[in-house]
Amino acid sequence: MLANHRCALNRLRSEQSEPSVLGPPTGAPSFAQNVIKESMRLFPPVYLFGREATCSVQIGDFPIRKGDSVVMSQWIVHRDESHFADPLDFNPDRWSAAFERTLPKYAYFPFGGGPRVCIGKEVAMLEATIVVGMLASRFDVVLEAPDTLTPWPTVTLRPQDAVWAEARKAPEDPRVACGVRQSRIASTRCGRNAARTRRRS
Ligand code: HEM
Repeated sequence: MLANHRCALNRLRSEQSEPSVLGPPTGAPSFAQNVIKESMRLFPPVYLFGREATCSVQIGDFPIRKGDSVVMSQWIVHRDESHFADPLDFNPDRWSAAFERTLPKYAYFPFGGGPRVCIGKEVAMLEATIVVGMLASRFDVVLEAPDTLTPWPTVTLRPQDAVWAEARKAPEDPRVACGVRQSRIASTRCGRNAARTRRRS
């Protein structure tokens, strides 16, 4: 995502010069955390999972009988425009504390939920935030074919083919132009540039 969204990459780099990628002591999310959250919104590693109903229940228009299998898809729910404005835009800035407070509980569930929620959730977020932050500050990752990534829904979501990329040393001055690439599969646009991109098209 960062290779295709230079403005987010540059924001992340500037954040790395601040004391901690984990966020200020207030507990407010850092931009790195927002990048991870937004990436897992559009491309949830676990894109669906199921449950067996232990009793009959009516959910909205759907009668569920005891023993039925119910499948819930992060891929679909995370792209629902009733919860996420411009759902196909890659916009880490949407993850403000105020936004998260208004988000219904299971509108975003990359780690599942309920009694079987992922026990590695905090570790995964911590690790991803640190690793992505450190890599972004040191390297430019340039995808060989950025517009040809095809998601492959195996047990977890992954690219269908090998993703060839070149890692270059990051520029000393992170204030490079804020270019926007659109990925064919994601149709994602980058935060504040999204409106401009749409007006042009
Ligand atoms: C980005 C990384 C990760 C994602 C997206 C993820 C996602 C999930 C999801 C969606 C579930 C619930 C599955 C269900 O309810 O059927 C789950 C369960 C689980 N995860 Fe993760 N996970 C991640 C990383 C980790 C890590 C780092 C660990 C261990 C350190 C871990 C350990 C587990 C375990 C043990 C369960 C089963 C919990 C139970 O059934 O009680 N996960 N994970």
